[in-house]
Amino acid sequence: MTRPRIVIGNWKMNPLTPAAATTLATAVAREAGRVVRVGVAPPALFIPVVAEVLRETRVGIYAQDVSAEEKGAFTGQIAATMLTSYVNGTLVGHSEARRYLGDDDERVAKKLIQVLRAGLEAVLCIGEREDEFDAGATEDVLAAQLGAPLHALSESDRDGRMTERFVIAYEPVWAIGTGRPATGEHATAATKTIRRVLEEDGGIDGDAIPILYGGSVTASGAIEFAKAEGIDGALVGGASLKAEEFAGIVRAFA
Ligand code: PGA
Repeated sequence: MTRPRIVIGNWKMNPLTPAAATTLATAVAREAGRVVRVGVAPPALFIPVVAEVLRETRVGIYAQDVSAEEKGAFTGQIAATMLTSYVNGTLVGHSEARRYLGDDDERVAKKLIQVLRAGLEAVLCIGEREDEFDAGATEDVLAAQLGAPLHALSESDRDGRMTERFVIAYEPVWAIGTGRPATGEHATAATKTIRRVLEEDGGIDGDAIPILYGGSVTASGAIEFAKAEGIDGALVGGASLKAEEFAGIVRAFA
């Protein structure tokens, strides 16, 4: 099974001006090759301006988050349908949205369905916290985090087409922004768990679903994940704000 290689830069709440976002997007587009699918996830407010810069390029655009609701009285939220004019897909369930915005597995599951129903690609982020890692509970945590999304998918995805746009990012929370990436070996073990759960609990062909690794990926560290069995790309935070560093990560996966 050949899965696509995907590298997405999650800019988080950076950079702070549309001009700086334009500059970064332009530099990313210049460096992007042809082998790997490259994407950037700018802050929501800058999505249209970045989309304009990237219009004729191969670089995809992602949102960082989306509403769990379809439309209506949800102040501050952005509906998946609104995103369709600008982006290829969106992250859902990033650990920072879970931690700072209160996303739980049920809400993440609702977001996932909104995104896939709108025809967008969904990058579902899952991963264990440090205490869970220390307790050897990674497998259980991943299975639990996949529970509600897989249940929602089985109810909504009648013809199996939604999973064609389903991507998973394995991001151990203790590795995000800490400069302490997981090992390739740990990431590979996580992909095995994830694909087993996809099959056993979701009835989904796990081999068909791309799994990205995220958490302190740098250009020099990316090789380990590019070589790791079962890992199909990277979700990059801090290092995606430097176009050259990001390009190095893309090259590692090429
Ligand atoms: P990081 O973030 O690369 O800065 O660790 C990854 C992420 O949060 O997606």
